[in-house]
Amino acid sequence: MKQKIPEQLLNRFCDLISEKLGLRYEKDRWHHLIRHIGLAADDFGYDDVELFLQWLLSEPLTQKDVSLLANHLTVGETYFFRHKNSFEVLEKNILHDLIASRRGRDQRLRIWVAGCATGEEPYSVAIVIDKLIRDIRDWDITILATDINQNFLKKASDGLYRKWSFRETPEWIINNYFTLTQGNKYAILPHIKEMVVFSPLNLKEDVYPSILNNTNAMDIIFCRNVFIYFSNELIKEILHKFYRSLVENGWLVVSPVEGLQCREHDFRPVNYLGETFYKKEIIAKCISQKKIFADEGAYPVKKRYEFEKISGETAQLDSLAGNKILRELRQEPEEELLYKEALKSFEKGLYGEATDILMKLYSSMPDNKNELQIKRDVIMYLLAKSYANQGKIEDALEWCNNAIKADKLQPNYYYLRATILHEQKNTDGAIASLKQVLYLDPNFILAHFALGNFTLEQQKPEESFRYYENTLLLLKNYKPEEVLPESEGITAGRLKEIIHMISSRNSVLLQDIIHLKS
Ligand SMILES: C[S@@+](CC[C@H](N)C(=O)[O-])C[C@H]1O[C@@H](n2cnc3c(N)ncnc32)[C@H](O)[C@@H]1O
Repeated sequence: MKQKIPEQLLNRFCDLISEKLGLRYEKDRWHHLIRHIGLAADDFGYDDVELFLQWLLSEPLTQKDVSLLANHLTVGETYFFRHKNSFEVLEKNILHDLIASRRGRDQRLRIWVAGCATGEEPYSVAIVIDKLIRDIRDWDITILATDINQNFLKKASDGLYRKWSFRETPEWIINNYFTLTQGNKYAILPHIKEMVVFSPLNLKEDVYPSILNNTNAMDIIFCRNVFIYFSNELIKEILHKFYRSLVENGWLVVSPVEGLQCREHDFRPVNYLGETFYKKEIIAKCISQKKIFADEGAYPVKKRYEFEKISGETAQLDSLAGNKILRELRQEPEEELLYKEALKSFEKGLYGEATDILMKLYSSMPDNKNELQIKRDVIMYLLAKSYANQGKIEDALEWCNNAIKADKLQPNYYYLRATILHEQKNTDGAIASLKQVLYLDPNFILAHFALGNFTLEQQKPEESFRYYENTLLLLKNYKPEEVLPESEGITAGRLKEIIHMISSRNSVLLQDIIHLKS
């Protein structure tokens, strides 16, 4: 007989999953929710659903609990080339233009499919790219596909599909990109499979953009049929983070019914053949800097930025004039104020603007002055990060090296350099830089973790295990909810879970070692 669950308990459970997973369950979907709670209770080893809910609500949930719940409560409805027209636009407009603008200069593309379910969507994107770029080996293509549901991700990595996954897919795609296997399943061709990297990521709780999980400097983000499960408030937060994860002129793709909030955000809706894509277009663009002197008014305004709206109208932003007044009142030095402005732009995701301000600040600093309010290397470091988030990794490396030259004792500079070198596929260089981090600070957790990842990538499991082991040992000094230094927001609990996930995806040996030590 079906167990009747008190409404108050269900309400509290809904609050919990909204807090942890972002999922919103209105009363009209409670029948669905109750069925899935029943299945989750089984998985957690409970016969009695009410007792299970009471337990969930009385204990602080571990990352593993959250993950298990997500496996039961998320909906993974998806198929290849879903919303066919948007794939047309992707191919004929967005990617066509992007590829043309990068060809022969900066041959890289970075795409993130957030909420990828069982992989049909990111593989569809990979197929389009494969079709468009004949010399694909000469390109650096990243297709990152993330989801909260690890069962879905496992299925996605297997790359085996039933005919139902092709319900709107043209026959030629099935013929050209899949092979029929013995179990009557379709296996995606290995070269397409290799183009996509699957990784767990909770859009509600995880950190992005971050170099650590490769969610920065994206050209295109797909997040389709995911917002429908979230509250407006959460969508707003996610949009803000996506905006920061995109390079300037990057694109966000949502499903046709999910565009409303994007319109209210800074994204510019662009319509192609009835499909709307959302562009991160910087409305006010810094085009020049003028020096205007004392005769302008009571306060000499040294610098004034002229901004030009994309539409052609000219708007002037005289924040620096106002800042001058503020500065005099607060007696803040000019350098500090400019630096703060750059930091503010960086935090808003306006990386080009941040770079402009920092370059101006840097070039206006006298070489011979030693007691500067903001040290040159601090400016160089933020410049390197701003360039990295624009996908300009050559410039990022140059400024990171400059920062290191100016101050050789900052472990975070070497850490940033390692992530940039890794991005450039120079894993040996990245490892050497991480070792320098540990020489300066042996407790730099993320350096141990990155060394674990990079050595695993180099097929050196023994070394890799040692670094993960060190990471787990150091993590013991932190509470699970504590944010780790230099992590841009990642918590100790989350990192521990990530290591366990890596272990379960890799060799049995790795699992044994990690379980023994933690
Ligand atoms: C309906 S599917 C959409 C799949 C695909 N994007 C498409 O449009 O065909 C929704 C996906 O969002 C994922 N999801 C739900 N909540 C999430 C969260 N908090 N973080 C990450 N993914 C989430 C689910 O696991 C599920 O795979």
